[in-house]
Amino acid sequence: MRCDRVWRDARLATMVGGDMGVVERGLVAAQDGLIVYAGPAAEAPALDAAEIIDCDGRWITPGLIDCHTHLVHAGDRAREFELRLEGASYEEIAGAGGGIVSTMRATRDASEDDLVASALPRLDALIAEGVTTIEVKSGYGLDTDSEIKMLRAARRLGVERRVGVSTTFLGAHALPPEYAGAPDGYIALVAGTMLPEITCLGLADAVDAFCENIGFSAQQTAQVFDAARRAGLPVKLHAEQLSNQHGAALAAQYGALSADHLEHLDDAGIAAMAASGTVATLLPGAYYFMRETKLPPIESLRRAGVPIAIATDCNPGTSPLTSLLLAMNMGATLFRLTVTECLAGVTRNAARALGLADSIGTLEAGKRCDLAIWDIERPAELVYRMGSNPLHARIWSGR
Ligand code: NIG
Ligand code: FE
Repeated sequence: MRCDRVWRDARLATMVGGDMGVVERGLVAAQDGLIVYAGPAAEAPALDAAEIIDCDGRWITPGLIDCHTHLVHAGDRAREFELRLEGASYEEIAGAGGGIVSTMRATRDASEDDLVASALPRLDALIAEGVTTIEVKSGYGLDTDSEIKMLRAARRLGVERRVGVSTTFLGAHALPPEYAGAPDGYIALVAGTMLPEITCLGLADAVDAFCENIGFSAQQTAQVFDAARRAGLPVKLHAEQLSNQHGAALAAQYGALSADHLEHLDDAGIAAMAASGTVATLLPGAYYFMRETKLPPIESLRRAGVPIAIATDCNPGTSPLTSLLLAMNMGATLFRLTVTECLAGVTRNAARALGLADSIGTLEAGKRCDLAIWDIERPAELVYRMGSNPLHARIWSGR
């Protein structure tokens, strides 16, 4: 078999099947950006490779996938962090015109170029740890032009760097000041104007909302989801982060790709997610940074067979985190996820949370050749260490 490149003498965590899919003496072969073989060297077809890379026994995993970020935004919220240290709550700060709306002001004032320039260092930090695909949400523009500007900036990240970018329209993130007291009017704008226009421009791969008492009601969320359905876009949801709004069950009714956060998820929500195959995306960085004490119902999610993903939720307000490896460590330490669950959470289940399970997330013939090559003795090291980065090399689309 002719191919462009072979990585040989590697240990593989293919992430195929229910566990890590470990191959002790493995190789990966790529042609035209796709994996053509990943598995035991002894069972590989005869390979006529233009380039052979010796991995000296290093581990190869699928390139990591950060499936929930707000990477594109302007400004920071360090001052609000100080206020929270002095005792103010996230809800109080939001109620006083801070929170998401303060990032909205900075984001509206920024140009598309500014947004790209400020997101790139955050993206580079993720890339340096082996991330090969990111999701990026809008939701700090909160008017049509600014939401479009954010999504264009997000798409451009995938031109500036060799990384896959999935964009999510999150117009229903917070109520902009010009709609104070008129949330239904704003939802009508999101569902009736913004979403159709953004769909026309091809700028969104999915639609999200913030279903919360400081965000939008389940009924308002449903209106956004109906518009997404009309546009042919899949949905996901910020659900049950601060309280139980039964958002996850609603999202599941719409066949959501994922429901995210989920600290306050109940049994009915879990059953609905299990029935619809919706991924539970856990965001331990936000849990940590908000000093949340209510754990997501991990054991019940496991028992129900709901796939679990882990993401950074990188955003200026609740999770200023640009390390997916640290998110994995927090998933294990704070949420008691196993090493296999943490690794699956940033590979195959994260791919599923983006609707991309057919093209990324495992080492399998036919998938895009996105690899992370690690200087480690065992995969547990990826989860165990805090603040160290054992990445040896990162391959995106075969290069
Ligand atoms: O995922 N929960 C809503 N959205 C973000 C927070 C956004 C912000 O505070 O800027 C989150 O936690
Ligand atoms: Fe978020």
